[in-house]
Amino acid sequence: MSDKVFRTCPITRLERFGRETVLWIQAPDIAAKAVAGQFVMVGLPRPRANFLKRAISIHAIDGAEVALAVLTVGDVSVALSRLTVGDPVEVIGPLGNGFDLDIQGRPVAMVAGGIGHAPFRFLAAALADRTKDITLYAGGRDRAALSGLGWADKMGLKTVLASEDGSIGQGGYVTDLLGDLSPATQVYVCGPLPMLRSVQALALARAIPCQLSLEGKMACGVGVCLGCTCARPDPTEAYAKVCTDGPVFWAEEVKLDG
Ligand code: FES
Repeated sequence: MSDKVFRTCPITRLERFGRETVLWIQAPDIAAKAVAGQFVMVGLPRPRANFLKRAISIHAIDGAEVALAVLTVGDVSVALSRLTVGDPVEVIGPLGNGFDLDIQGRPVAMVAGGIGHAPFRFLAAALADRTKDITLYAGGRDRAALSGLGWADKMGLKTVLASEDGSIGQGGYVTDLLGDLSPATQVYVCGPLPMLRSVQALALARAIPCQLSLEGKMACGVGVCLGCTCARPDPTEAYAKVCTDGPVFWAEEVKLDG
């Protein structure tokens, strides 16, 4: 019996930060069931409904409201960002497995590239009764790419920033900030594939427990289209489906090609 919800949800709030838009939707069933790291498939309302929905990670839960952070790149996300309060969106979810929260007393490092910070707000809330020692390492192209991180300050996370143009934080990539990462740390990572690959390699080399939140190319979000598959380190093992086996994997569980 599936516990996924497929319904039309009204937008209740909109927040805009640089190229990001946070859509708050009224979705009590999803808010009640979701765990940190899960995602929803979101589409435009009819009659503008696009056949393809976008996979968007759950950014936060507030009572019966669910927040979705959208980077305004591509047709669907630009159209979503142009909706206004009261407009409905089509939503399926919650989907995927979510993060493993068993940090065993370790300090937590969240490593985010661009919109990859989106699932970490929900994760930080989920970890709040387990640790106060959370550092968010966030990188992006420029100051605008990092303007949606106010939630981290409000939640009391330590933040360490890197921007490619040097306009905020250290100049360069977020991976440049991780040189001192200790094996005693629990790492969570979300962002572009090269960044994921780089942090995965670092974690495996230093035996740092590390969970990767993958995006994949999700057309269906429910294990049907096979568009999101990801290789396993053991070539004899079947490919993982990011949408149903993930989107969260331990660093040892996947081989990140391409
Ligand atoms: Fe269709 Fe994963 S998105 S199988």
